[in-house]
Amino acid sequence: MTADELLDLGPVIPVVVLEDAGAAVPLARTLVDAGMRAIEITLRTPAALEAIANVAADVPDAVVGAGTVLSPAQAQDALAAGAQFLVAPGSTPALLDRLAGMPLLPGAVTASEVMALLERGITWAKFFPAESSGGVRALKALAGPFPQMRFCPTGGIDAAKAKDYLALPNVACVGGSWMLPPPAVQAGDWERIRELATAPSSTA
Ligand code: 3PG
Repeated sequence: MTADELLDLGPVIPVVVLEDAGAAVPLARTLVDAGMRAIEITLRTPAALEAIANVAADVPDAVVGAGTVLSPAQAQDALAAGAQFLVAPGSTPALLDRLAGMPLLPGAVTASEVMALLERGITWAKFFPAESSGGVRALKALAGPFPQMRFCPTGGIDAAKAKDYLALPNVACVGGSWMLPPPAVQAGDWERIRELATAPSSTA
């Protein structure tokens, strides 16, 4: 798996925050059934690594990755648990040095951040936090000087906004949690999540 292949898996990468690792497999099956194969489980909860391991072991059609990767050590833990890709909200020299050649989606929103990635031959980035960093207008502006960049905007996106982002030539896919309302995740309401994930505007 390369970062480019990750961006081509589908138009939406669900961003999952899980308190209970036991929910990971039914949730991942629901998302895969809804057409979302790439699943980002954020390293924001103690359950995250076990959740990644469970999905890697039991949901072969899912491509499970770790989100909120802030350090090389976290990346190693996630890979050891079975993560097939890594997502970081930003990009630091330490992360980029240590994870060179790995399927990493680093964060970038400014021209200088994009240029720092391009200097390393990286032509893909998570655009985070998308809505508060200028959203669709900012991405349109970045397409001029950086036509080779492919972005995955994430942060504050919902089903309706996803459509606008996905219409941009430099947006490969979008990330978001709009199909995963915390009460539905906590209650194990997979039917509700399936509805939200399969709503037409959810997959554009
Ligand atoms: C992320 O970590 O990528 C974002 O927090 C997800 O953004 P959202 O919850 O606003 O969709």
